[in-house]
Amino acid sequence: MRHFLTTEDWSRDELQQMLDDAAALKSGRVSSALAGKTIALMFFNPSLRTRSSFEIGARQLGGHAIVLAPGRDAWPLEFETGAIMDGEAEEHVREAARVLSRYCDLIAIRAFPKFQDWSIDREDRLIRAFAEHAEVPVINMETITHPCQELALMLTLQEHLGAAAGRKFVLTWTYHPRPLNTAVANSALLIASKFGFDVTLLCPNTDYILDPRYIQAAEANATAAGGSVSLSHDIESAYTGADFVYAKSWGALPFFGRWDQEQPIRDRHRHFIVDERKMDLTNNARFSHCLPCRRNVKVTDGVMDADYCIAIDEAENRLHVQKALMATLVGQAPSN
Ligand code: CP
Repeated sequence: MRHFLTTEDWSRDELQQMLDDAAALKSGRVSSALAGKTIALMFFNPSLRTRSSFEIGARQLGGHAIVLAPGRDAWPLEFETGAIMDGEAEEHVREAARVLSRYCDLIAIRAFPKFQDWSIDREDRLIRAFAEHAEVPVINMETITHPCQELALMLTLQEHLGAAAGRKFVLTWTYHPRPLNTAVANSALLIASKFGFDVTLLCPNTDYILDPRYIQAAEANATAAGGSVSLSHDIESAYTGADFVYAKSWGALPFFGRWDQEQPIRDRHRHFIVDERKMDLTNNARFSHCLPCRRNVKVTDGVMDADYCIAIDEAENRLHVQKALMATLVGQAPSN
């Protein structure tokens, strides 16, 4: 039994096989990989794309999805080993994960960080507790990485750009009025480097550099795949020659739990918005964003509505890659 918690646990060949399976499903191959099977989708945070695409994907594979929101329509859960449960939580993950494993064939979890202490959030305790106690594969629907988004992004890039070798992938921080999760940014670094892009991380200053865990993993990936990873705080040089621009906002890790102190720094960098002038510096780059995206805050209308914006394709591909993923985890991949 294998979980899908991070793409770092899967080889490039295994991920490419899932992308090939996704492409086959997208082009019309019919699969009943989930016939008679159920996936539990557990959301601790809101979603539009992830919930819809998993529910629809399970149905299209002949299976069934149930959606649970602990603390709203399911019991609030405790995750700490040895906890004295005299607070809000009515149930421990040790029971919840094993009970769901008796009903379901897959368990998928969305659990964002608490944004108070990165040294705690970076341990990803909640999904790791599920993975430890579940008796079926666990899928990460976004915690401190977003591996399903990674698969969708890479399928979309392969459709639009072909091979990654020699292509410049720019991951740019953008302004947003609130500090957001670093998950998609971490994931973009991981998957772009794994497939051999020349990756540039563009962010306002050193406070916005991502966790060294992901920088180091990306550097190791790049070495293995023949790409590169570089860091820039200069908008013009980062965009120049780019083949692909990926935008995301995230909170500065040194300010976790002190967001009032980060706000003035963040507010000085509204000019990191992705606009037509910056895109004109690129090598006719494609642009994408994981969505949801605040128009004219993170990205201008002109970029979102341009022919080179492939964000809707990427969102569609969530459906196809997750079908391939679910089929793989239950041993029913189309390529089997
Ligand atoms: N990109 C993404 O995960 O979208 P949702 O938050 O709407 O699921």
